[in-house]
Amino acid sequence: MTQTHFGYQTVDETDKARRVRGVFDSVASRYDIMNDVLSMGLHRAWKAYAVAVADVQPGMQVLDIAGGTGDLARAFAQRAGVQGRVVLTDINEAMLRTGRDRLLDAGLLLPTAACDAEQLPFADASFDLVSVAFGLRNMTHKEAALSEMARVLRPGGRLLVLEFSRPAPPLRKAYDWYSFTFMPAMGKLIAGDAESYRYLAESIRMHPDQAMLKTMLQACGFAHVDVHNLAGGIVALHVGVKC
Ligand SMILES: C[S@@+](CC[C@H](N)C(=O)[O-])C[C@H]1O[C@@H](n2cnc3c(N)ncnc32)[C@H](O)[C@@H]1O
Repeated sequence: MTQTHFGYQTVDETDKARRVRGVFDSVASRYDIMNDVLSMGLHRAWKAYAVAVADVQPGMQVLDIAGGTGDLARAFAQRAGVQGRVVLTDINEAMLRTGRDRLLDAGLLLPTAACDAEQLPFADASFDLVSVAFGLRNMTHKEAALSEMARVLRPGGRLLVLEFSRPAPPLRKAYDWYSFTFMPAMGKLIAGDAESYRYLAESIRMHPDQAMLKTMLQACGFAHVDVHNLAGGIVALHVGVKC
């Protein structure tokens, strides 16, 4: 059987999706508050930056993958307007349900689909923009997911990948303490779950860095890729243009 990483553990490929599902089933109801606490609100600024770069215009067709509780989908829908279409997707029904409820509370009824990014149920070239925020590192076959994202984009369409990345050297020691000590402790205190937040820290370390992810995007059909480092590289936004 082929093996892969689940944080620092080596697991069967077939088992990774189940374990990732377990993490997000566990955190779904507390996901938003934990995001605010653990990033000290910074995730809002990172997403606002991605939304600004996305520059969604009225009438655009947008797909948000691993959209979870719907932060990006909501911002995109407000910009795409009634002529446009923003589809919220995620593999995890608990996250999707929380996201759909939040969108309804904001007065937005968006098409929603529970699906695996590695097998998207959409036609070729059917979107102008695809986004995936803090989702790619959880996927078992990242190249398969990136190729699917390229497939559903029209030529010239853009993919935005917002993800934790490799911080600049002066930040690394403090960031390691923050990730491996503070985050699991806060996870235990607020969500009663230290393990999921230990996985979060480990999965970030196992994710490709800025340069490697750029190479992966290029290999998966994105001709031009720009990398924007945020918070000293703690997070990076990769923007790929489908050839
Ligand atoms: C950290 S959350 C990010 C949610 C949201 N995009 C945000 O930025 O707040 C990661 C999401 O990725 C989803 N996910 C993990 N593996 C996936 C896959 N193979 N296909 C689609 N979604 C996946 C999880 O269910 C979870 O909702």
